[in-house]
Amino acid sequence: MKELLAKIKIQALEEIGKAQNQDKLYQTQVKYLGRKGELTLIMHGLKDLSPEEKPAAGKMCNEIKVAMEAAFDQKRDQLSASEINSKLNDAWIDVTAPGTPYKTGHIHPLSQVQQEVENIFSAMGFAIMDGPEVESEYFNFESLNVPSWHPARDMQDTFFVNQEADKKHGKLVLRTQTSPVQIRTMQKYGAPLRIIVPGRVFRNEATDARHEHTFNQVEGLLIDKDISLAHLKGVMEEFLTRLFGKPTKIRFRPGYFPFVEPGLEMDMSCLLCGEKGCRVCKHTGWLEFMGAGMVHPNVLKAGGIDPKQYQGWAFGFGLTRLVMMRYGIDDIRLLHGGNLRFLEQF
Ligand code: PHE
Repeated sequence: MKELLAKIKIQALEEIGKAQNQDKLYQTQVKYLGRKGELTLIMHGLKDLSPEEKPAAGKMCNEIKVAMEAAFDQKRDQLSASEINSKLNDAWIDVTAPGTPYKTGHIHPLSQVQQEVENIFSAMGFAIMDGPEVESEYFNFESLNVPSWHPARDMQDTFFVNQEADKKHGKLVLRTQTSPVQIRTMQKYGAPLRIIVPGRVFRNEATDARHEHTFNQVEGLLIDKDISLAHLKGVMEEFLTRLFGKPTKIRFRPGYFPFVEPGLEMDMSCLLCGEKGCRVCKHTGWLEFMGAGMVHPNVLKAGGIDPKQYQGWAFGFGLTRLVMMRYGIDDIRLLHGGNLRFLEQF
């Protein structure tokens, strides 16, 4: 009996020492101390021993049981400590590892160029103005010297909104040009004035590589005493030279817009070929840049300014076309297409 118990003890302690994880340890515990465990069975058998043998055997059994339980407890603590450690190792954070890159996006090429245009004109003392995109017929046409019967209305095919602005102001339209902001600003601030108006305009165009229903313009208006087209020439030459970063020439040609008199078209020298003539400038050395002219007296009156005291000039150019020229973009539809493969190039 003594030997058997001693053997069980040695065996059990050895197995406890070897257990690699809690499962194995638990199985070992069941094997020796469970309901049908080896030690348990021996303890059940104690009652069959002779009265002389019983006390010593019972005592030994108890000692072994206590020793085993202590060994199990100790091993269990040891195993769970090392499990926690290995979990901590798995979850270890490398604070020096580079972060996951994420896309921040960037400014649209139209907005980039608009900001440059605004900076150049601000530096020359122009204020930056804004106006509604849904405009009344009055501001978009009548006040700009284009009555409803005027054939010049055909120059801009208009989107009409199914609603009257009011009796005097006619229907609502999507503005076809930024020029209505000329009138709004004159009415609000009077003369003298020096403003530019970047903004979206809309026309009922059949879209192709050069035409879109939505595009961006920049309007300019300068009103003061003794103003002439010479000032316009100086301002525009300076503006284009700063924008393109190289000397740029301009020229005026007669042009017609009802809200200016005289009216003109302004061309800029082709920077691609240096005026030698190329495919882009159709071998003329010049690119059409904008419409302009001296503000018509009727327009000044509509803005509440006395044409006998003040005069000035206005211009309007396509920001969209400027961006296309600047980056050599050959299809206007790309600019509002929202295609990232296109936009990420800027
Ligand atoms: N508003 C005109 C257009 O859209 C351009 C322009 C503006 C012409 C100001 C003359 C003066 O075509």
